[in-house]
Amino acid sequence: MERILVIGGARALGAAVARRAVKDGYDVVIGARDLAAAEALAAEIGATAVRIDLQDETTMAAAATQLAEGIDHIVTTGSAPHDVRAAALDHDKLIAAFTAKVIGPMLVAKHFAPVLRPNGSIVLFSGVVGWRPGPGSLVKGVTNGAVEYVARHLAADLAPVRVNAISPGVVDSGAWDRLGDGKAGLLSKSAAGTLVGRYGESDDVVDTVMWLLRAGFISGETIHLEGGARHKTS
Ligand SMILES: NC(=O)c1ccc[n+]([C@@H]2O[C@H](COP(=O)([O-])OP(=O)(O)OC[C@H]3O[C@@H](n4cnc5c(N)ncnc54)[C@H](OP(=O)(O)O)[C@@H]3O)[C@@H](O)[C@H]2O)c1
Repeated sequence: MERILVIGGARALGAAVARRAVKDGYDVVIGARDLAAAEALAAEIGATAVRIDLQDETTMAAAATQLAEGIDHIVTTGSAPHDVRAAALDHDKLIAAFTAKVIGPMLVAKHFAPVLRPNGSIVLFSGVVGWRPGPGSLVKGVTNGAVEYVARHLAADLAPVRVNAISPGVVDSGAWDRLGDGKAGLLSKSAAGTLVGRYGESDDVVDTVMWLLRAGFISGETIHLEGGARHKTS
């Protein structure tokens, strides 16, 4: 049975991946900074849990030691959005945003490189904003763009372990529930900004993750999962 570690796996897209991976027969380890949340979901779906905070390298080292018998795949969904214009940038929040998406996953690779099995893979999360600049999305855009390069360069560094990224458009993952009444407007605007005329569902992402885990001839790539949004000109 292949073992998969899902970092950010206690919530939203990470949790959706963890649920599907259990159904598909993987031995699933849910990694989250909130260990109680990870353990609760693990108990519900038949997985195990480990504490991993992408802002704290010591937790990655400890998790890699705990999972030293081997890991086939790692999926990392962490993000720490800092959606402000340049004039309002906060140094610590800027660093946290880079750490969640770029530095943290690179340090995960550092600690798990000796543990990852050669046929295994890592799936990172970017996002369409990386390719669609706009006021207020500076940090999200640059960190998402950097993830493409992390995938490319880590793939060369960790080969034959494959490393790829998924770049979703707006997905109704649960993350947007915090907008309350504003969520419907965001979803309909984003649907209108695609070629396929809809926003993303969690299953779109989960299907793509599960496909990438098995796509043994794909490495160093970013898969754009956004209904053609980058190609819509009007
Ligand atoms: N949903 C979308 O529309 C969309 C669009 C484009 C790109 N994406 C990208 O897809 C990924 C997943 O999105 P989502 O919708 O599931 O977002 P989300 O609801 O914001 O989930 C982010 C996940 O990352 C975890 N996380 C944050 N900081 C962490 C840390 N320091 N250590 C470990 N885990 C940490 C969160 O756990 P906690 O519960 O501990 O906070 C949560 O599980 C993100 O990278 C996001 O940027 C999403």
